[in-house]
Amino acid sequence: MSRLAWASLVVVLAAVGLGVYWNYDDGFDPESLRGATVVITGCSTGIGEEMAYQYARLGAKILITARRENRLKEVVAKAKSLGAQEAHYVAGDMGKAKDCERTIQTAKKKFGRLDYLVLNHDGSNLKNIHEMFGKTSWDDDPDIPFFVDYLHVNLISYVRLASLALPLLKESKGHLVVMSGVHGKVPFATLAWGSAVKFGLDGFFSSLRVELMKAQQDVSVTLAIVGFIRTPIVEKMYEKREDGEEILKMAAPINETAQALIRGGATRAREVYYPSMVWPLAKLRAVLPNLVDTLMLKMEV
Ligand SMILES: NC(=O)c1ccc[n+]([C@@H]2O[C@H](COP(=O)([O-])OP(=O)(O)OC[C@H]3O[C@@H](n4cnc5c(N)ncnc54)[C@H](OP(=O)(O)O)[C@@H]3O)[C@@H](O)[C@H]2O)c1
Ligand SMILES: *[C@@H]1O[C@H](CO)[C@@H](O)[C@H](O)[C@H]1NC(C)=O
Repeated sequence: MSRLAWASLVVVLAAVGLGVYWNYDDGFDPESLRGATVVITGCSTGIGEEMAYQYARLGAKILITARRENRLKEVVAKAKSLGAQEAHYVAGDMGKAKDCERTIQTAKKKFGRLDYLVLNHDGSNLKNIHEMFGKTSWDDDPDIPFFVDYLHVNLISYVRLASLALPLLKESKGHLVVMSGVHGKVPFATLAWGSAVKFGLDGFFSSLRVELMKAQQDVSVTLAIVGFIRTPIVEKMYEKREDGEEILKMAAPINETAQALIRGGATRAREVYYPSMVWPLAKLRAVLPNLVDTLMLKMEV
């Protein structure tokens, strides 16, 4: 097949994806969030912070986490001013078992029930991961101590937090929302460490979804596949570059991303793709992996 034919196929898939996306009534009821109890991780900045504000506007009771306590205090104050029925924080490192335990225990103590667990944090205690995007291949700098820490913070903690919260979620017929990314469906040439975590999350949480169905437990598991999102850290990074503004124009707005994720979680969607153009890429990788490998050779992160 020629390059043109492949390109046409991608365009057709994208068009179908967009068509389905825009015409699909997901039955979202904003009122369902009023008084709902929500734990969100990674809320000192980025998509997590924005989700905290949107849950707040919908009248939810939220508990947020991250390492930086000063930022969490500010986010809690703003969430209250926006309409959160309650807003609390737990400052901690999700790479540590006891901080994960403290988070879920605090939710239980403050709320007495849990409707939503939104697993969103992403980081490392050893490196600035944002400075690693697109820079080196794994083979140029195979940093195993970093990899072990990264798995702890971003994969093992997700499994730990979900396991701790499951008894509460089963009681409330609640919702689990797990943040992945396009690198959790498609391989990039410079993100092997990140893909290890995101593909791992897909493996674990997609299996958990089936297990819960088999056990007739009404807990939904929503995997969020997000593309390039204009978060404050992404903005700061690209503003420094000459072509930065051009690249930032391609990034999806953070408020609409947060809204798509909140809707997907509330309506018990199996997966949410945002922006929707990541959907055809993920599907293409599933059916034509060789083609996507070669596309990725030309891709810059
Ligand atoms: N932005 C994008 O373009 C993009 C693309 C694909 C996927 N995603 C996914 O979307 C989610 C949110 O991304 P984002 O861009 O909004 O992230 P971000 O701006 O980098 O924020 C990450 C959050 O995680 C927290 N965090 C980092 N390490 C932590 C640790 N050890 N313990 C507890 N909290 C920790 C950070 O707070 P502290 O530093 O205060 O701890 C911060 O609040 C992530 O799962 C990410 O993989 C984002
Ligand atoms: C997101 O913010 C922009 C302005 O920054 C606004 O035009 C748009 O309506 C907002 N969208 C949502 C879903 O809040």
